[in-house]
Amino acid sequence: MKKYIMALDQGTTSSRAILFDHDANIVGTSQKEFTQIYPKAGWVEHDPMEIWGTQSGVAREVLERTGIRPDEIAAIGITNQRETTVVWDKNTGKPIYNAIVWQCRRTANICDELKRKGLEKEIKEKTGLVVDAYFSGTKIKWILDNVEGAREKANKGELLFGNIDTWIIWNLTRGKVHVTDYSNASRTMLYNIKELKWDEDILKELDIPMSMLPDVKPSSHVYGTTDIHTFGGAQIPIAGDAGDQQAALFGQACFEEGMAKNTYGTGCFMLMNTGTNLVYSNNGLLTTIAWGVDGKVEYALEGSIFIGGASIQWLRDELRLIYNAQQSEFYANSVEDTNGVYVVPAFTGLGAPYWDMYARGSIVGLTRGAKREHIVRATLESIDYQTKDVLNAMQEDSNIELKGLKVDGGASANNFLMQFQADILDVPVYRPSVIETTALGAAYLAGLAVGFWSSKEEIKQKWSIDREFTPNMDENKRIKLYSGWKKAVKRALEWEKE
Ligand code: G3P
Repeated sequence: MKKYIMALDQGTTSSRAILFDHDANIVGTSQKEFTQIYPKAGWVEHDPMEIWGTQSGVAREVLERTGIRPDEIAAIGITNQRETTVVWDKNTGKPIYNAIVWQCRRTANICDELKRKGLEKEIKEKTGLVVDAYFSGTKIKWILDNVEGAREKANKGELLFGNIDTWIIWNLTRGKVHVTDYSNASRTMLYNIKELKWDEDILKELDIPMSMLPDVKPSSHVYGTTDIHTFGGAQIPIAGDAGDQQAALFGQACFEEGMAKNTYGTGCFMLMNTGTNLVYSNNGLLTTIAWGVDGKVEYALEGSIFIGGASIQWLRDELRLIYNAQQSEFYANSVEDTNGVYVVPAFTGLGAPYWDMYARGSIVGLTRGAKREHIVRATLESIDYQTKDVLNAMQEDSNIELKGLKVDGGASANNFLMQFQADILDVPVYRPSVIETTALGAAYLAGLAVGFWSSKEEIKQKWSIDREFTPNMDENKRIKLYSGWKKAVKRALEWEKE
């Protein structure tokens, strides 16, 4: 009897496997962090073999821990850190370079060149994206330009490109299936989101051969089955695939136009469902594919914030102001305010709505009385301010006034962060019972494809609330605090520009 769905959530800092039962309860979790490689300032890489090793490891471990047999798994859903780029040799299965991570800024100059050529407008119209080092296209070009012999091999059809979803599926099927889904394809800056095809002009501009690219499929679809050796003889259908932010939108059951969520992970990503309408932003948001489900493609507006929960890790690992993430809540609550301190965590530039590849982090407003507690609190508040920047942009672009915000992701467990979020936005914040909505979304997508769940209607019924945070801040105070944030951001912009 097939009683469970396995979600594989390959994130920026860890690989996780989560088992869900039919009621969408978590019945088992296994997680492993992996190495972050920083070869130079502003560069970020992962080892694709370590990613595969940790991801397959946690998949097996969660089964062992729970005693659930592989033949009890109805399907696997994949969700992943998006944009991160892997190029590998089709014949040996070996990556020819480390994965270049979405946060990596090394291709800023390639982006500048595209802008200089006046291609921004065309690229935005076709892909929905702004020209930025964030997306995969320029990262592939960098690998082909910089790894010895890569371009010749690519031209001979010997190299494959994939985002992390593609890499995982390729490995799970032992090289049989080279696919991605619409949501991931829409983050490459190579995919025409209107015509639903890889764009030949952009590929030509970046000198990337079409033969490297995966087939693009719906997000809820049986792509293949796991290789017979992966899970001791069981061949489990791989039936869901979506970028982690789109998966979270699905997991939050934001199925109707105008419904939005914000995920507090490494970064923070707010997405609003715009249905079958492609809405272009005038305020620095991205237009992206939400998913392909039930035979149609739906779109979303997205505000991408590069550093969210990662700033709490920075407090812990680099500044060593806290021992663990929970302590940040304690310190933040132990002071009335930040004592005028603002932290702008622009460690990898700034995403929406600023899109400044050259911005860098800063702490401003320090006085002799500034303490650890103030810096910790200012760091948490920076996550909420960035979310406000994005929410403002979203309301302007969509002409929809948000009546509340659904939240999820690891850092949404922080009550200070959520209360300040409600206060600074002046809208209620809803935290669901399951905050692992990214994995849940991937599980739903896979479950729908194999008939484990019957419809989006059925899934909608499963969403339930854990806690509502009600805004409770005086209007003048809110305006004053937010204008201080805007002033602080100005100081961080273009810091790295020559
Ligand atoms: O676009 C990058 C995003 O997908 C990364 O998500 O959860 O690893 O911060 P996360």
